[in-house]
Amino acid sequence: MRPKTEPEIEAMRQGGHQLAVILKTLSEEVAPGVSGKDISAHAMELVKKAGLQPVLLGYEGFPDIMCISVNDAVVHGIPSKTSFKQGDVVKLDLTVGHKGLVVDSALTVVAGDAEIPKDVQRLLDGTKKSLEAGIAAIHGEGTAIGDIASAIQDVLEKNGLGVVRDLVGHGVGYGVHEGLEVPNYGHAGTGRKLVAGATIAIEPMATLGDWRVNLLRDNWTVVSRDHSLTAHFEHTVLVTEAGSEILTV
Ligand code: MF3
Ligand code: CO
Ligand code: CO
Repeated sequence: MRPKTEPEIEAMRQGGHQLAVILKTLSEEVAPGVSGKDISAHAMELVKKAGLQPVLLGYEGFPDIMCISVNDAVVHGIPSKTSFKQGDVVKLDLTVGHKGLVVDSALTVVAGDAEIPKDVQRLLDGTKKSLEAGIAAIHGEGTAIGDIASAIQDVLEKNGLGVVRDLVGHGVGYGVHEGLEVPNYGHAGTGRKLVAGATIAIEPMATLGDWRVNLLRDNWTVVSRDHSLTAHFEHTVLVTEAGSEILTV
């Protein structure tokens, strides 16, 4: 993966910011009575209005512009017409193109305004904190993939969460997935070393129970095998000479 040039980074920074704004807007619309389809239809509108490319639509045959995964569904859920219910744990994952470069981000919210159960709060906070820890582990050029992976695993396990292993973060920019894999478990100092200008999607996925997952018969949706609740947070991050920059903010 060749390092991105300054103009390419700037395009990802701009696209990433617009993606963050759209994702925040959509996350605030998740509520009982609203469906995944409602959210993805609005996503399409907002993406078009911003002049971004809906790169997920048709990607490897995926039938929608974004992934929406509910409760035991971890990732790659297809937005459905079923309305969210109070307390549903909803993952929104949106990937867009801007000036030919791709950025990718995801977050998890709970539908409704009822008090969030303690274990669900632990799931959301722990997974979000693990993403922050993974990003903080990037100390610039020469950071090993394992440095990021072990920082994520550490936080997830300290929060008593299952660490999903079958899916990983990835290089991103020239395409949705650029080959390089960023697992959410591993040992510091191991794996490939990152160069300045590398852009990666870091995306911890966690469960409130067992870490194992199954693929549903729709051939897309990945669910926790024990049907425990799951969370997913993702940012596209630039590796710099001496640190990192989150591009999807
Ligand atoms: N946004 C997803 C990711 O984080 C990619 C989804 S691929 C799809 O890697 F085909 F399921 F849409
Ligand atoms: Co994503
Ligand atoms: Co991704």
